[in-house]
Amino acid sequence: MIQFSHVYKTYPGSVHALKNIDLEIDKGEFVFLTGHSGAGKTTLFRMISAFDKPTSGRIHVAGFDLTKLGGKELPFFRRRIGVIFQDFKLLKDHTLFENISLPLMVRGDRSAVIQRRVMEALEHVGLADKAHQLPEFVSGGEQQRTAIARALVHQPGVLIADEPTGNLDPELSEEIMDLLEKVCAQGTTVFIATHDHDLVKRRQKRTLEIEDGILVGGRK
Ligand SMILES: Nc1ncnc2c1ncn2[C@@H]1O[C@H](COP(=O)(O)OP(=O)(O)OP(=O)(O)O)[C@@H](O)[C@H]1O
Ligand SMILES: [Mg+2]
Repeated sequence: MIQFSHVYKTYPGSVHALKNIDLEIDKGEFVFLTGHSGAGKTTLFRMISAFDKPTSGRIHVAGFDLTKLGGKELPFFRRRIGVIFQDFKLLKDHTLFENISLPLMVRGDRSAVIQRRVMEALEHVGLADKAHQLPEFVSGGEQQRTAIARALVHQPGVLIADEPTGNLDPELSEEIMDLLEKVCAQGTTVFIATHDHDLVKRRQKRTLEIEDGILVGGRK
């Protein structure tokens, strides 16, 4: 489902953020990516979600060859993945409902379908009563859950989550992880970057570790 072959990413100024990354994640797997701040987690996720291209190497995700992905295929690729960003990226002037509806609007769903799906997604993350609030009037954890609902509303085959519990208290973190495990049990491939070693230990899942742009631990 996700395959990297000899992937390098060098940012301007000779920052070697990814060095010779090889990895393979199968359909339906649940995998953690750990590593210190600056190790390359977000960079790796930006490659998987096609927000950026590698300097060299090949990447396949959900049947797409990302190094060859053109502008025309990009929207089709986007429909197959869900992304939870480290900084949420919610639109400030849109309500939680409107934020979550975006992936469905983009793919042209009818408004009755959007209404039903978005309300289901909001209920799933326990936010049905805040549907029509703007992000700035809800808590950080609620914004995080909105970002999760938005990433899942179009039922993607792959979910990439960059520090999905980074801003949550431990209890809420566990709840979010339970939710992500449930999503995986329903068939979605889930790949999560996190600093939280205790959380990773408790879950007993396949774990990859990145250190200074190199994958150093775990089955690749
Ligand atoms: N746009 C950019 N231009 C230049 N260097 C960058 C850019 N984005 C990231 N970097 C550098 O690449 C390296 C990897 O950064 P990345 O954001 O992938 O780390 P991270 O593991 O996600 O860290 P954190 O845990 O703090 O989120 C760092 O040295 C960072 O400074
Ligand atoms: Mg990061």
